[in-house]
Amino acid sequence: MKYKRLIDSAKKAKGHSYSPHSKFRVGAAILSKNGKIFSGCNIENSSYSLTICAERTAIFKAISEGHKKFSAIAITSDLKEEIPPCGACRQVLFDLAGNIDVIMVGSKNSIKTCKLEELLPIPFDSSMLNNK
Ligand code: THU
Repeated sequence: MKYKRLIDSAKKAKGHSYSPHSKFRVGAAILSKNGKIFSGCNIENSSYSLTICAERTAIFKAISEGHKKFSAIAITSDLKEEIPPCGACRQVLFDLAGNIDVIMVGSKNSIKTCKLEELLPIPFDSSMLNNK
């Protein structure tokens, strides 16, 4: 599979999930266009709304290390069903990475793939800010 390394990295990151409140572990890994992979897990907080999702952890790590172009993100949890990124993560991913491939992986290794724009049609992005 084209994205095996990316998927393995997302699965490994799930193992680092800090999710004592929901007990819902999520792992993600984003592929930079130069081939580098950045992984992330969800990190919860006792003030619940301060929780960050695995997808945003991964892309923020990549951005903070100077990466700007991406081709795909893999996401996995302990659910048999493949989970999609939440609405907030869709917006953040689109804004920072554009219309990348989204690889959703179930706990038994089933895979669903789509483009981010299919999950976020009519996206708001920075080009609109200069559109006065
Ligand atoms: N979560 C993610 O990390 N990514 C998603 O796309 C969905 C939700 C996390 C947030 C929270 O820690 C837990 O899953 C339950 O919502």
